[in-house]
Amino acid sequence: MADDTLTIRDNRTGEEIEVPIVDGTIHATDLRKLGLTSYDPAFLNTASCRSAITYIDGDAGILRYRGYPIEQIAERASFLETAWLLLEGELPTAAELRAWEDEVRMHTYVHNNVTQFLDGFRHDAHPMGMLLGAVGALSTFYPDAKHIADPASRRLQRVRLIAKFPTIAAWIFRHSRGLPYVFPRNDLDYIGNFVNMTFEIGGRHEPNPVLQHALEVLLILHADHEQNCSTNAVRGVGSSHVDPFSAVSAGIAALYGPLHGGANEAVLRMLDEIGDVKNIPPFIESVKSGSGGRLMGFGHRVYKNYDPRATLVKQVADSVFEQTGISPKLQIALELEKIALEDDYFVSRKLYPNVDFYSGLIYQAMGYPTDYFTVLFALGRLPGWIAQWEEMLGDPEQKIARPRQVYTGPDERDFVPIEKR
Ligand code: CMC
Repeated sequence: MADDTLTIRDNRTGEEIEVPIVDGTIHATDLRKLGLTSYDPAFLNTASCRSAITYIDGDAGILRYRGYPIEQIAERASFLETAWLLLEGELPTAAELRAWEDEVRMHTYVHNNVTQFLDGFRHDAHPMGMLLGAVGALSTFYPDAKHIADPASRRLQRVRLIAKFPTIAAWIFRHSRGLPYVFPRNDLDYIGNFVNMTFEIGGRHEPNPVLQHALEVLLILHADHEQNCSTNAVRGVGSSHVDPFSAVSAGIAALYGPLHGGANEAVLRMLDEIGDVKNIPPFIESVKSGSGGRLMGFGHRVYKNYDPRATLVKQVADSVFEQTGISPKLQIALELEKIALEDDYFVSRKLYPNVDFYSGLIYQAMGYPTDYFTVLFALGRLPGWIAQWEEMLGDPEQKIARPRQVYTGPDERDFVPIEKR
């Protein structure tokens, strides 16, 4: 019997099968030999793909993009450089990076009709609702995007998505405020252009390099996180061979949900509720007793030691608040963190600040409203979604995603005419 196999015995029949163990996994279809299906709601212990993009070791607090530690990328790469790394698998050379930046710059404009349907949204429409509608609608402007088997077409859609996303995201911000749209500028870099399109007033915006760098780092930290809910949505929808604009809009829809992209908003609401540093001890007690909900921005399904992104976010926060000053909310957050990190309830459950504990406070200090935070998360996550979509299409093991079910409904029964019900 080979070492790298698993023997499974069906105690109902005595039948035994030996299945290979590859990369710490067994293939669920091998269970068919025993007439069995694996049952794993919410994929708690199921790998849905092989991926060479992002590596996470939750116990050790490790996150790597294409093998490079997130700490090194956040410190040394630009967002577009990170996007190239995720998409191409290697860091770009200086010439490749320049060409990539130019290529993206040439595609930042969107069809004028996009402004018309953005105008159709109500002034108080949620930014994520507008984003998923607008990005999905791009497929109607680029019908060639359905040629997903054509590498040249895929590459063009990739550039279009990365280039037009900030324009649409910024215009959503302007729409919410009733401000005229600001057009992309070719003399600015990717982040500078986005910030200018959001905040320019009267033809002027004085960029703050510290805040701009902070935004760039935050986007890098969000750029990919392997098979999270929205990435799984992009892969699942993309597996039907729909165009990438539609697949990415499915990712935006998934991210919109409060259990995924919405936690940074929830942290701010929690800080509002606490209201004052003096209210922290009773708040912590209410969390511990279960009567006050969870300490938002703490804990993670995968990271049980620390979230490496949170450590980096904290550094970004320090640089931002040095510029913008310490707000009462930040004071509450700092004190809350200090108390929670010393409290046995949180320590024994391995609950540490996650990436969302400070990111909302930073976005707020930059001038973004609370309901816009998830749009910034989406802007960061976009390269990861596209890289994962392309990897899925090129993977010969992948097919249309179509899980099985355990049927729990009634057995066959005869139709009852309406007058007899
Ligand atoms: N505050 C208080 N108690 C908590 C918290 C928290 N934030 N998180 C977990 N616990 C407790 C939980 O009650 C349970 O206690 P007990 O063993 O006594 O029943 C124990 O810790 C384990 O919790 P769990 O629900 O089994 O842990 P999980 O891995 O399923 O949940 C989580 C992970 C992130 C959903 C959870 O920690 C949470 O709800 N955190 C707050 C929301 C949040 O900040 N989410 C952002 C996640 S990072 C963004 C991203 O990467 O997408």
